[in-house]
Amino acid sequence: MANIEWGKLGFAYMKTNTIVKMYYQNGQWGPVISSADDNITINSYAASLHYGVECFEGLKAFRGKNGEIRIFRPDENAKRMQRSAEYLGIAAPSVEQFIEMVKQVVLENQEFIPPYGSGASLYIRPTLIGFGPQLGVKSPEDALFMIMVSPVGAYAGSINEPVKTVIAREYDRAAPNGSGSYKVGGNYAMSLKAGKEAAKEGYKGVLYLDPKEHKYIDEFSSSNFFAIKGNTYVTVDSNTVLPSITNKSLEQVAKDLGMEVERRKVPVEELAQFDEVGECGTAVVITPVGIVDDKPTICGQECKRYTFGDPTKCGEKSLKLYKQILAIQHGEVEDTHNWCIVL
Ligand code: PLP
Ligand code: COI
Repeated sequence: MANIEWGKLGFAYMKTNTIVKMYYQNGQWGPVISSADDNITINSYAASLHYGVECFEGLKAFRGKNGEIRIFRPDENAKRMQRSAEYLGIAAPSVEQFIEMVKQVVLENQEFIPPYGSGASLYIRPTLIGFGPQLGVKSPEDALFMIMVSPVGAYAGSINEPVKTVIAREYDRAAPNGSGSYKVGGNYAMSLKAGKEAAKEGYKGVLYLDPKEHKYIDEFSSSNFFAIKGNTYVTVDSNTVLPSITNKSLEQVAKDLGMEVERRKVPVEELAQFDEVGECGTAVVITPVGIVDDKPTICGQECKRYTFGDPTKCGEKSLKLYKQILAIQHGEVEDTHNWCIVL
């Protein structure tokens, strides 16, 4: 086991033992290569550098009570990567190749999987890029698929630390018929300016509205939106948000716990009616949102504030959902939906 202060981990790069990678050239995938070097060599004309031909995934491995390792829903990430690759017009690994490489990189970096009870996990980052020389704007015929891992703790805030967030009214992260529902790097580049301004104003999250009408809630820059209204789990139906695997799992967990589930358009003004609001995603898990400020401009003075319950602690229903999904990921309760691969 690596000598790491597991309880103090944030969400940051750490050098681990290996990355695994494979190249797509001349119409086929080459062998899987394990490398102790995190640096890769790509052509300076690579389409990923110039035209953003890149997509990625995020998933996690967890250490159970008896030391066993669980990987949460890698098949879903494999399928979502295929969808993103299809959008970019590049080759994608098969679901089997994706899962085998995830297993390999996790096993090669076992000592970096945080111990049970530490509150941390091993973040797995599969990435697919165009790497060969190219000048014209078109989908590259080659591709490099690689998977990196890093032990992580909380992303921003934590389950006991609700975050203060702001609606980005002067920025969109996606276009109405654009790439918002694909996990491509460009979407994240689009969110950096708003994120920087929000951080300067003391916010830990940026909430985007639907880019067509700016009437409905879409999602945060790196997580989906959910809310609790009475006994109902409410989340967003929009073709410009990333289809979150965590959100889909929480919808199921909510049903299993006897809650109602609604996936629908959520008008901004409905924020006033929610008991609890949260961010959900692989990195953020569930991060409760204590405050949403609605401002014409992130840095401006004018502000309508929405607060949810006690903004200093997580709401009861969000906490219940959080505990249940973590219990599944750590093997503390039966995995009735067969979500985890156990190594
Ligand atoms: N939305 C965005 C924009 C994200 O980057 C992420 C993170 O992956 C999510 C939602 C949550 O998706 P998932 O639960 O599959 O990690
Ligand atoms: C994830 O939750 O896996 C993500 O990809 C979010 C990331 C952009 C920090």
